This record gives sequence, structure tokens and C-alpha cells, in this order.
Amino acid sequence: MGYKALLFGASGLTGSYCLNFLLDQHRYDEVAIITRKPIQKTHPKLVQHVIDFGTIKKHRNLLEADHVYSCLGSTIKEAGSEQAFREIDFGLNTYIARTAYELGASRFSLISSVGADPDSRFFYLKVKGETEEAIKSIGYKSLLIMRPAGLLGKRKHMRLKEAFGNLGGRLVSPVLIGPLRRYRPIKAEAVAFVMCQLPEESLNGIHIYENDTIQQLYDQFQGKAE
Ligand SMILES: NC(=O)c1ccc[n+]([C@@H]2O[C@H](COP(=O)([O-])OP(=O)(O)OC[C@H]3O[C@@H](n4cnc5c(N)ncnc54)[C@H](OP(=O)(O)O)[C@@H]3O)[C@@H](O)[C@H]2O)c1
Repeated sequence: MGYKALLFGASGLTGSYCLNFLLDQHRYDEVAIITRKPIQKTHPKLVQHVIDFGTIKKHRNLLEADHVYSCLGSTIKEAGSEQAFREIDFGLNTYIARTAYELGASRFSLISSVGADPDSRFFYLKVKGETEEAIKSIGYKSLLIMRPAGLLGKRKHMRLKEAFGNLGGRLVSPVLIGPLRRYRPIKAEAVAFVMCQLPEESLNGIHIYENDTIQQLYDQFQGKAE
């Protein structure tokens, strides 16, 4: 019998790629997603649950799975305030991780951010760092933390700033060399691919994948390594 994957953030840019990669994997018999709006997708392995995340604790039993993937996150601007952002990025992700662990999950994969650091003076990076630390302390047999830089890709609702960011990122990328490589924008598809395709044997313990490592692994998987 195969495993059950549970994905959060499936309606987002990276999460939508993850969903496709997870559905393609033979190791999963079932790929469940929990979203706040339905997704227009059908697949024999896909099980969708639409919930109000404000009452997620009422849906605790839905968090039972072998492997959990979270691409769920917001921005301070989207969330409306620093506090609201923290409740999503820290509050929801740590609740999901802790509850899924209690229900038997052995692996958790999280998209964090380049520069995540609980001591950062930047609120966004501080929250990302605190989230990582809280999830590290849960005790997962296998914990994968992806730390991408700016994500490139076509969003359903492209924010103007992101459209410029995508363009600017591509232009500035070639000059980000040496230690600055970790700030090169990266395709959301590459992050999702690496997060979902990492081989079983590399997965015990806590693994943090920095932006440039994600890019290198993606290039290797694609046969494009230098
Ligand atoms: N964008 C970047 O350049 C960048 C860079 C580094 C790291 N990251 C991190 O990478 C992760 C994925 O980023 P992304 O750009 O792919 O994300 P995205 O496209 O904005 O998608 C975010 C996902 O989180 C869900 N979500 C947001 N707020 C929620 C809430 N209150 N309750 C339930 N679900 C909620 C969204 O659901 P709805 O569709 O319902 O809104 C969506 O599925 C995030 O953690 C982000 O912080 C992003």
C-alpha cells in the first residue's frame, strides 16, 4: 500500500505545481488537499476538502496523513497587518505541523524563505525563522525546509509588483554571483519539483535547502547540471 500525502496551499503558485508533482508520484495512493476555495481539478488520487481556516481545529481529523507539504503562506500586505500575517504563516503552519505529527505523520515539508531567521530585524523573515524553529522542535522523523528567494511564475492573479519583480529578477539574476547566488529569483516550479521529488534515502532528519541548492538539485534532476 502507498502513502497518503496532504498538501496545504494547493491553490497558490508553488502549491499548484506541488499538487501536480505529488499526483504523479507512484508512492502516493492518495493526495489530499485542504483549501479555503475549491480547485477546478479532478484526478483519481485527489481528495479535496474545503474548509474555513478560522475553524481549522474543528477539522483536526482531516490532518491525518503520512507526508505533509505546506506551501501555505501570506505576505504582510495580503494579510492586512503584521499580526494577521503571523497568524497565517506561523499560526496555521505550526498548528498543521503539530496536529499532523500527533496524528501519525512522519514527514513534513515546508516552504520558508531565504534569510529566515528568528533574530532577523525584518518582521517577515523573523516570522519565517520562528516558524522553522517551532516546527523543528516537534520531532518529525523527516523535516524538509525549503528556503527560496523570490518566486518566479505566472500567477492566476498577477500582482503588478510581482510582474515587475519577475522581470527585474530575471534581469538582475546574472549579476548575483558567489554568496549572492542564494538571492537569485527561482522558478516556483523548481522549488515545488525539488520539494516533492527528493529521494527517500535523503529524507531522515532535518534538512534545510537554501535557494542555490534547490536550483542545483533542480538542474541535476533536469539533466542540466554544469
Ligand atoms: N512569493 C515569493 O516570492 C516568495 C519568496 C520566498 C518564500 N515564499 C514563501 O513560499 C510560500 C509559497 O509562496 P507562493 O508565492 O507560492 O504563495 P501564494 O501563491 O501566495 O499561495 C499561498 C497559498 O496559501 C494560501 N493561504 C494564504 N492565506 C491563507 C489563509 N489565511 N488561510 C488558508 N490558506 C491561506 C493561499 O490560499 P488562497 O488561494 O485561498 O488565497 C494559497 O494556497 C509562502 O510561504 C511564501 O511566504 C514566497
